[in-house]
Amino acid sequence: MSCQGCESSTIEEARDIVSAVGSTRDKVIPLLQEIQKRHGYLPEDMIEAVSKEIGVPSSEIYGVATFYSQFRSTPMGEHLIKVCKGTACHVSGAEVLISSLSDELNVGEGATTGDGVFTLDSVACLGCCSLAPVVMIDEKVYGKLTPSKIRKVVKGYSSD
Ligand code: FES
Repeated sequence: MSCQGCESSTIEEARDIVSAVGSTRDKVIPLLQEIQKRHGYLPEDMIEAVSKEIGVPSSEIYGVATFYSQFRSTPMGEHLIKVCKGTACHVSGAEVLISSLSDELNVGEGATTGDGVFTLDSVACLGCCSLAPVVMIDEKVYGKLTPSKIRKVVKGYSSD
């Protein structure tokens, strides 16, 4: 295993993380959590460097990272869109809102738009079920949404 493309600062940081968290296989999740805490996502070169440090193939680490929705592979956008997938929102059309936003922004769930403006994510109940379906953008909640309403709201953020 090698990390030929890694900067020495990346290797140093990987060593630092591994010495703080541990280097056994059962530490893969805590290691990923620490990388994400520092970077806001999981940079590829950090995964490669940690993989080399602990002797676990990066393919295995990526497997863990993609299994858990808490981990993100791209940096956070300027605005975080969280579509509620709780029961009330689910039955009121949350999936339709997600696919509409996904089409509009050309981004998958859990990812960030190419221009770095939006990250599209989902979340469990936001606690305002009477307004279902609900979407939270940054700290603001929007309720009783339809695909056209949410597209309009999002456009407002694009022209910030
Ligand atoms: S289920 Fe969406 S706010 Fe409760």
